[in-house]
Amino acid sequence: MSRHRLGIAIIGGGFMADVHSRAARSAGEHVVGLTSSTPERSRAAAERVGADRAFDNVDALLADPAVDVVHVVTPNATHHELTVRALAAGKHVVTEKPLATTVADARDLEQRATAAAVVATVPFVYRFHPMVREARARVAAGEVGQLFSVQGAYLQDWLLAATDDNWRVSSDAGGASRAFADIGSHLCDLLEFVTGERLARVQAVTRTVFAERASTGPVSTEDLAGVLAQTDGGAVVSLLVSQVAPGRKNALVLELHGAHESLRFAQERPEELWIGRRTGSELHLRNTDDLHPAAARLSVLPPGHPLGYHDAFTAFVADTYAAVRGAAPDGLPVFADGVRACRITDAVLASARTGEWITP
Ligand SMILES: NC(=O)c1ccc[n+]([C@@H]2O[C@H](COP(=O)([O-])OP(=O)(O)OC[C@H]3O[C@@H](n4cnc5c(N)ncnc54)[C@H](O)[C@@H]3O)[C@@H](O)[C@H]2O)c1
Repeated sequence: MSRHRLGIAIIGGGFMADVHSRAARSAGEHVVGLTSSTPERSRAAAERVGADRAFDNVDALLADPAVDVVHVVTPNATHHELTVRALAAGKHVVTEKPLATTVADARDLEQRATAAAVVATVPFVYRFHPMVREARARVAAGEVGQLFSVQGAYLQDWLLAATDDNWRVSSDAGGASRAFADIGSHLCDLLEFVTGERLARVQAVTRTVFAERASTGPVSTEDLAGVLAQTDGGAVVSLLVSQVAPGRKNALVLELHGAHESLRFAQERPEELWIGRRTGSELHLRNTDDLHPAAARLSVLPPGHPLGYHDAFTAFVADTYAAVRGAAPDGLPVFADGVRACRITDAVLASARTGEWITP
Protein backbone atom coordinates (compact mmCIF):
# COMPACT_ATOMS: atom_id res chain seq x y z
CA MET A 1 0.00 0.00 0.00
CA SER A 2 1.32 3.47 -0.80
CA ARG A 3 2.14 5.72 2.15
CA HIS A 4 -0.02 8.75 2.94
CA ARG A 5 1.44 11.79 1.21
CA LEU A 6 1.83 14.85 3.43
CA GLY A 7 -0.18 17.94 2.50
CA ILE A 8 2.12 20.92 2.02
CA ALA A 9 0.94 24.54 1.94
CA ILE A 10 2.98 27.64 1.24
CA ILE A 11 2.51 31.19 2.56
CA GLY A 12 4.23 33.64 0.20
CA GLY A 13 4.26 33.70 -3.58
CA GLY A 14 7.73 34.91 -4.59
CA PHE A 15 11.10 33.34 -5.42
CA MET A 16 11.12 30.98 -2.47
CA ALA A 17 7.59 29.70 -3.20
CA ASP A 18 9.00 28.21 -6.40
CA VAL A 19 11.97 26.66 -4.61
CA HIS A 20 9.94 25.23 -1.69
CA SER A 21 7.14 23.82 -3.85
CA ARG A 22 9.58 22.16 -6.24
CA ALA A 23 11.49 20.68 -3.30
CA ALA A 24 8.27 19.44 -1.64
CA ARG A 25 7.24 17.67 -4.83
CA SER A 26 10.72 16.24 -5.39
CA ALA A 27 10.53 14.87 -1.85
CA GLY A 28 7.37 13.02 -2.91
CA GLU A 29 4.74 15.09 -1.10
CA HIS A 30 1.66 16.92 -2.28
CA VAL A 31 1.52 20.72 -2.60
CA VAL A 32 -2.07 21.37 -1.53
CA GLY A 33 -2.08 25.11 -1.99
CA LEU A 34 -0.55 28.52 -1.60
CA THR A 35 -1.55 31.97 -0.40
CA SER A 36 0.22 35.26 -1.01
CA SER A 37 -0.43 38.90 -0.17
CA THR A 38 -3.72 39.22 -2.15
CA PRO A 39 -6.21 36.70 -3.62
CA GLU A 40 -5.11 37.68 -7.16
CA ARG A 41 -1.42 37.18 -6.36
CA SER A 42 -2.28 33.90 -4.62
CA ARG A 43 -3.99 32.60 -7.76
CA ALA A 44 -1.14 33.68 -10.04
CA ALA A 45 1.52 32.17 -7.78
CA ALA A 46 -0.41 28.92 -7.20
CA GLU A 47 -0.69 28.46 -10.95
CA ARG A 48 2.96 29.34 -11.50
CA VAL A 49 4.29 26.83 -8.94
CA GLY A 50 1.74 24.16 -9.79
CA ALA A 51 -0.06 24.09 -6.42
CA ASP A 52 -3.49 22.42 -6.50
CA ARG A 53 -5.27 25.56 -5.41
CA ALA A 54 -4.93 29.13 -4.20
CA PHE A 55 -6.22 30.05 -0.75
CA ASP A 56 -7.67 33.57 -0.51
CA ASN A 57 -5.94 34.19 2.79
CA VAL A 58 -3.89 32.64 5.59
CA ASP A 59 -6.93 31.72 7.69
CA ALA A 60 -8.40 29.64 4.87
CA LEU A 61 -5.07 27.87 4.36
CA LEU A 62 -4.68 27.07 8.06
CA ALA A 63 -8.28 25.84 8.35
CA ASP A 64 -7.75 23.16 5.68
CA PRO A 65 -7.33 19.76 7.39
CA ALA A 66 -5.47 18.49 4.30
CA VAL A 67 -2.55 20.75 5.24
CA ASP A 68 0.02 18.99 7.44
CA VAL A 69 3.05 21.27 6.96
CA VAL A 70 3.07 25.03 6.40
CA HIS A 71 6.04 26.73 4.74
CA VAL A 72 6.38 30.43 5.64
CA VAL A 73 8.30 32.08 2.79
CA THR A 74 7.35 35.75 3.15
CA PRO A 75 9.38 38.89 3.99
CA ASN A 76 11.26 38.56 7.29
CA ALA A 77 9.12 40.89 9.42
CA THR A 78 6.03 38.71 8.81
CA HIS A 79 7.66 35.42 9.88
CA HIS A 80 6.82 35.72 13.58
CA GLU A 81 3.11 36.47 13.22
CA LEU A 82 2.50 33.92 10.44
CA THR A 83 4.43 31.19 12.25
CA VAL A 84 2.57 31.84 15.51
CA ARG A 85 -0.70 31.36 13.62
CA ALA A 86 0.48 28.18 11.90
CA LEU A 87 1.64 26.71 15.21
CA ALA A 88 -1.65 27.66 16.88
CA ALA A 89 -3.44 25.74 14.09
CA GLY A 90 -1.41 22.65 15.03
CA LYS A 91 0.64 22.56 11.82
CA HIS A 92 4.25 21.52 11.40
CA VAL A 93 6.23 24.51 10.11
CA VAL A 94 9.15 25.43 7.92
CA THR A 95 9.95 29.10 8.42
CA GLU A 96 12.52 30.84 6.26
CA LYS A 97 15.62 32.49 7.63
CA PRO A 98 15.99 34.81 9.42
CA LEU A 99 13.51 33.05 11.71
CA ALA A 100 12.45 36.46 13.07
CA THR A 101 13.71 40.03 13.06
CA THR A 102 14.47 40.08 16.80
CA VAL A 103 16.00 37.52 19.14
CA ALA A 104 12.96 37.80 21.44
CA ASP A 105 10.57 36.89 18.62
CA ALA A 106 12.78 34.02 17.48
CA ARG A 107 12.93 32.66 21.06
CA ASP A 108 9.17 33.00 21.31
CA LEU A 109 8.73 30.88 18.17
CA GLU A 110 11.13 28.25 19.48
CA GLN A 111 9.17 28.02 22.74
CA ARG A 112 5.81 27.85 20.98
CA ALA A 113 7.03 25.11 18.64
CA THR A 114 8.34 23.10 21.59
CA ALA A 115 5.03 23.52 23.44
CA ALA A 116 3.08 22.47 20.34
CA ALA A 117 5.32 19.39 19.94
CA VAL A 118 5.52 19.84 16.17
CA VAL A 119 8.44 19.76 13.76
CA ALA A 120 9.73 23.29 13.17
CA THR A 121 12.68 23.82 10.84
CA VAL A 122 14.64 26.64 9.18
CA PRO A 123 16.12 26.22 5.67
CA PHE A 124 19.85 26.46 6.35
CA VAL A 125 20.09 24.36 3.22
CA TYR A 126 23.82 24.57 2.57
CA ARG A 127 24.13 21.93 5.30
CA PHE A 128 22.63 19.50 2.80
CA HIS A 129 25.44 19.45 0.24
CA PRO A 130 27.21 16.09 0.45
CA MET A 131 30.64 17.75 0.52
CA VAL A 132 29.56 19.88 3.49
CA ARG A 133 28.65 16.68 5.35
CA GLU A 134 31.99 15.26 4.23
CA ALA A 135 33.80 18.27 5.72
CA ARG A 136 31.83 17.97 8.95
CA ALA A 137 32.58 14.25 9.22
CA ARG A 138 36.31 14.86 8.66
CA VAL A 139 36.36 17.45 11.46
CA ALA A 140 34.40 15.15 13.81
CA ALA A 141 36.73 12.21 13.05
CA GLY A 142 39.77 14.29 14.00
CA GLU A 143 41.20 14.32 10.48
CA VAL A 144 41.47 18.12 10.46
CA GLY A 145 43.00 18.25 13.93
CA GLN A 146 42.77 21.08 16.41
CA LEU A 147 41.10 24.01 14.65
CA PHE A 148 43.42 27.05 14.41
CA SER A 149 41.52 29.44 12.18
CA VAL A 150 38.51 29.91 9.91
CA GLN A 151 38.07 32.21 6.95
CA GLY A 152 34.61 32.68 5.50
CA ALA A 153 32.73 34.87 3.08
CA TYR A 154 29.33 35.23 1.51
CA LEU A 155 29.47 37.75 -1.32
CA GLN A 156 26.79 38.94 -3.74
CA ASP A 157 26.38 41.90 -6.12
CA TRP A 158 22.63 42.19 -6.68
CA LEU A 159 22.37 45.39 -4.59
CA LEU A 160 25.46 47.01 -6.13
CA ALA A 161 23.77 50.14 -7.56
CA ALA A 162 21.78 52.80 -5.71
CA THR A 163 18.94 52.05 -8.11
CA ASP A 164 18.79 48.41 -6.89
CA ASP A 165 16.04 47.92 -4.33
CA ASN A 166 14.06 45.23 -2.55
CA TRP A 167 11.95 44.84 0.59
CA ARG A 168 15.10 43.57 2.36
CA VAL A 169 16.57 47.10 2.21
CA SER A 170 13.82 48.46 4.46
CA SER A 171 14.26 47.62 8.14
CA ASP A 172 10.45 47.61 8.48
CA ALA A 173 10.16 44.60 6.17
CA GLY A 174 13.58 42.99 6.49
CA GLY A 175 14.65 43.78 10.06
CA ALA A 176 17.49 45.90 11.46
CA SER A 177 20.13 43.82 9.68
CA ARG A 178 20.09 43.22 5.94
CA ALA A 179 23.23 41.62 4.47
CA PHE A 180 24.21 39.81 7.64
CA ALA A 181 20.72 38.53 8.51
CA ASP A 182 20.10 37.55 4.89
CA ILE A 183 23.34 35.74 3.99
CA GLY A 184 25.71 36.07 6.95
CA SER A 185 23.20 33.87 8.82
CA HIS A 186 23.83 31.06 6.30
CA LEU A 187 27.60 31.47 6.64
CA CYS A 188 27.61 31.37 10.45
CA ASP A 189 25.22 28.42 10.56
CA LEU A 190 27.51 26.53 8.19
CA LEU A 191 30.62 27.46 10.18
CA GLU A 192 29.18 26.19 13.47
CA PHE A 193 27.64 23.13 11.79
CA VAL A 194 30.86 22.01 10.11
CA THR A 195 33.32 22.84 12.90
CA GLY A 196 31.15 21.81 15.85
CA GLU A 197 32.52 24.93 17.57
CA ARG A 198 30.52 28.02 18.45
CA LEU A 199 31.32 31.68 17.90
CA ALA A 200 32.15 32.73 21.46
CA ARG A 201 32.74 36.44 20.75
CA VAL A 202 32.49 38.72 17.75
CA GLN A 203 33.68 42.16 16.76
CA ALA A 204 32.19 43.73 13.67
CA VAL A 205 32.31 46.67 11.29
CA THR A 206 29.33 47.30 9.02
CA ARG A 207 28.95 49.71 6.14
CA THR A 208 25.96 51.18 4.32
CA VAL A 209 27.24 52.35 0.96
CA PHE A 210 24.17 54.27 -0.22
CA ALA A 211 22.35 56.62 2.14
CA GLU A 212 19.27 56.26 -0.06
CA ARG A 213 17.97 53.64 -2.49
CA ALA A 214 15.42 53.82 -5.31
CA SER A 215 12.07 53.40 -3.58
CA THR A 216 13.09 52.76 0.02
CA GLY A 217 14.38 56.30 0.66
CA PRO A 218 16.85 56.60 3.56
CA VAL A 219 18.59 53.28 4.19
CA SER A 220 19.46 52.06 7.69
CA THR A 221 20.41 48.45 6.88
CA GLU A 222 24.00 47.42 6.10
CA ASP A 223 25.33 46.53 2.64
CA LEU A 224 28.33 44.70 4.07
CA ALA A 225 29.85 43.48 7.30
CA GLY A 226 33.34 42.43 8.32
CA VAL A 227 33.55 40.23 11.40
CA LEU A 228 36.49 39.16 13.53
CA ALA A 229 35.53 36.37 15.92
CA GLN A 230 36.82 33.60 18.13
CA THR A 231 35.26 30.20 18.64
CA ASP A 232 34.81 28.49 22.00
CA GLY A 233 37.65 26.19 20.92
CA GLY A 234 39.95 29.18 20.44
CA ALA A 235 39.97 29.32 16.63
CA VAL A 236 40.42 32.80 15.14
CA VAL A 237 37.73 33.64 12.57
CA SER A 238 37.46 36.31 9.89
CA LEU A 239 34.28 36.74 7.85
CA LEU A 240 33.22 39.09 5.06
CA VAL A 241 29.57 39.39 4.06
CA SER A 242 28.55 41.74 1.25
CA GLN A 243 25.74 42.41 -1.21
CA VAL A 244 27.84 44.96 -3.13
CA ALA A 245 30.79 42.85 -4.39
CA PRO A 246 30.86 43.13 -8.24
CA GLY A 247 30.87 39.80 -10.01
CA ARG A 248 30.02 37.77 -6.92
CA LYS A 249 26.62 36.04 -7.00
CA ASN A 250 26.34 33.47 -4.21
CA ALA A 251 30.02 33.20 -3.32
CA LEU A 252 29.71 31.42 0.02
CA VAL A 253 33.13 30.08 0.94
CA LEU A 254 34.16 28.39 4.18
CA GLU A 255 37.81 27.54 4.77
CA LEU A 256 39.10 25.83 7.93
CA HIS A 257 42.71 25.44 8.99
CA GLY A 258 43.51 22.69 11.50
CA ALA A 259 46.65 21.12 12.90
CA HIS A 260 46.64 18.37 10.25
CA GLU A 261 44.79 19.74 7.24
CA SER A 262 42.71 22.55 5.82
CA LEU A 263 39.29 22.22 4.21
CA ARG A 264 37.63 24.57 1.73
CA PHE A 265 34.02 24.39 0.55
CA ALA A 266 32.65 26.86 -2.01
CA GLN A 267 28.89 26.86 -2.57
CA GLU A 268 29.26 27.67 -6.28
CA ARG A 269 31.38 24.51 -6.73
CA PRO A 270 29.47 22.21 -4.37
CA GLU A 271 30.79 18.96 -5.81
CA GLU A 272 34.31 19.71 -4.54
CA LEU A 273 36.09 19.82 -1.20
CA TRP A 274 39.67 21.11 -1.19
CA ILE A 275 41.82 19.32 1.34
CA GLY A 276 44.99 21.26 2.06
CA ARG A 277 48.10 19.63 3.53
CA ARG A 278 51.67 20.84 3.85
CA THR A 279 52.43 18.19 1.26
CA GLY A 280 49.89 16.48 -0.96
CA SER A 281 46.90 18.81 -1.08
CA GLU A 282 44.01 17.42 -3.11
CA LEU A 283 40.73 18.42 -4.69
CA HIS A 284 38.35 15.81 -3.36
CA LEU A 285 35.43 15.29 -5.80
CA ARG A 286 32.12 13.77 -4.76
CA ASN A 287 32.70 10.11 -5.38
CA THR A 288 30.17 7.68 -4.02
CA ASP A 289 32.65 5.03 -2.89
CA ASP A 290 34.87 7.11 -0.59
CA LEU A 291 32.47 9.39 1.26
CA HIS A 292 31.71 9.31 4.97
CA PRO A 293 28.22 7.78 5.51
CA ALA A 294 26.60 11.16 6.34
CA ALA A 295 27.77 12.51 2.97
CA ALA A 296 26.98 9.31 1.08
CA ARG A 297 23.36 9.50 2.33
CA LEU A 298 22.90 12.80 0.48
CA SER A 299 24.79 11.70 -2.62
CA VAL A 300 21.64 10.85 -4.55
CA LEU A 301 23.07 10.92 -8.09
CA PRO A 302 26.09 9.11 -9.52
CA PRO A 303 29.29 11.22 -9.59
CA GLY A 304 29.49 13.35 -12.71
CA HIS A 305 25.83 14.31 -12.57
CA PRO A 306 26.29 17.48 -10.50
CA LEU A 307 24.13 18.08 -7.42
CA GLY A 308 23.28 21.69 -6.60
CA TYR A 309 21.10 24.12 -4.69
CA HIS A 310 17.79 22.48 -5.60
CA ASP A 311 19.07 19.07 -4.53
CA ALA A 312 20.24 20.48 -1.19
CA PHE A 313 16.83 22.10 -0.74
CA THR A 314 15.05 18.85 -1.55
CA ALA A 315 17.21 16.98 0.96
CA PHE A 316 16.35 19.57 3.62
CA VAL A 317 12.59 19.33 3.09
CA ALA A 318 12.77 15.53 2.80
CA ASP A 319 14.48 15.39 6.21
CA THR A 320 11.88 17.82 7.61
CA TYR A 321 9.08 15.55 6.37
CA ALA A 322 10.90 12.46 7.70
CA ALA A 323 10.92 14.17 11.10
CA VAL A 324 7.16 14.79 10.75
CA ARG A 325 6.82 11.03 10.26
CA GLY A 326 8.77 10.40 13.45
CA ALA A 327 12.39 10.02 12.28
CA ALA A 328 15.27 12.01 13.78
CA PRO A 329 17.56 12.88 10.85
CA ASP A 330 21.03 14.08 11.78
CA GLY A 331 21.82 17.72 11.08
CA LEU A 332 18.27 18.99 10.62
CA PRO A 333 18.24 22.79 11.21
CA VAL A 334 15.47 23.49 13.71
CA PHE A 335 14.11 26.63 15.36
CA ALA A 336 16.91 26.57 17.97
CA ASP A 337 19.34 27.02 15.06
CA GLY A 338 17.19 29.89 13.78
CA VAL A 339 17.41 31.52 17.21
CA ARG A 340 21.18 31.03 17.20
CA ALA A 341 21.50 32.83 13.85
CA CYS A 342 19.40 35.73 15.18
CA ARG A 343 21.66 35.97 18.26
CA ILE A 344 24.79 36.14 16.11
CA THR A 345 23.22 38.80 13.87
CA ASP A 346 22.25 40.78 16.96
CA ALA A 347 25.81 40.53 18.31
CA VAL A 348 27.25 41.70 14.98
CA LEU A 349 25.00 44.79 14.92
CA ALA A 350 25.70 45.53 18.60
CA SER A 351 29.45 45.29 18.07
CA ALA A 352 29.31 47.48 14.97
CA ARG A 353 27.41 50.07 17.01
CA THR A 354 29.58 50.03 20.14
CA GLY A 355 32.99 48.82 18.95
CA GLU A 356 32.91 46.19 21.73
CA TRP A 357 33.48 42.45 21.59
CA ILE A 358 30.06 40.82 22.04
CA THR A 359 29.15 37.26 23.04
CA PRO A 360 26.25 35.99 20.87
N1 LIG B 1 17.02 29.59 2.59
C1 LIG B 1 17.37 30.22 1.49
O1 LIG B 1 18.29 29.76 0.78
C2 LIG B 1 16.66 31.48 1.08
C3 LIG B 1 16.90 32.07 -0.18
C4 LIG B 1 16.18 33.21 -0.53
C5 LIG B 1 15.27 33.78 0.36
N2 LIG B 1 15.08 33.21 1.58
C6 LIG B 1 14.10 33.77 2.54
O2 LIG B 1 12.78 33.52 2.04
C7 LIG B 1 11.90 34.59 2.41
C8 LIG B 1 11.17 35.07 1.15
O3 LIG B 1 12.14 35.56 0.24
P1 LIG B 1 11.82 35.68 -1.34
O4 LIG B 1 13.15 35.90 -1.99
O5 LIG B 1 10.96 34.57 -1.78
O6 LIG B 1 10.98 37.04 -1.36
P2 LIG B 1 9.98 37.54 -2.51
O7 LIG B 1 9.90 39.01 -2.39
O8 LIG B 1 10.38 36.95 -3.83
O9 LIG B 1 8.58 36.87 -2.10
C9 LIG B 1 7.87 37.23 -0.94
C10 LIG B 1 6.40 36.88 -1.18
O10 LIG B 1 5.66 37.02 0.04
C11 LIG B 1 4.40 37.63 -0.27
N3 LIG B 1 3.90 38.22 0.97
C12 LIG B 1 4.30 39.36 1.59
N4 LIG B 1 3.63 39.53 2.74
C13 LIG B 1 2.78 38.47 2.86
C14 LIG B 1 1.81 38.08 3.84
N5 LIG B 1 1.63 38.81 4.94
N6 LIG B 1 1.10 36.94 3.62
C15 LIG B 1 1.30 36.20 2.52
N7 LIG B 1 2.21 36.52 1.57
C16 LIG B 1 2.94 37.66 1.74
C17 LIG B 1 4.75 38.61 -1.38
O11 LIG B 1 3.61 38.98 -2.12
C18 LIG B 1 5.71 37.76 -2.21
O12 LIG B 1 5.00 36.92 -3.10
C19 LIG B 1 12.76 35.63 3.10
O13 LIG B 1 12.61 35.53 4.50
C20 LIG B 1 14.18 35.28 2.70
O14 LIG B 1 15.16 35.63 3.68
C21 LIG B 1 15.76 32.08 1.94
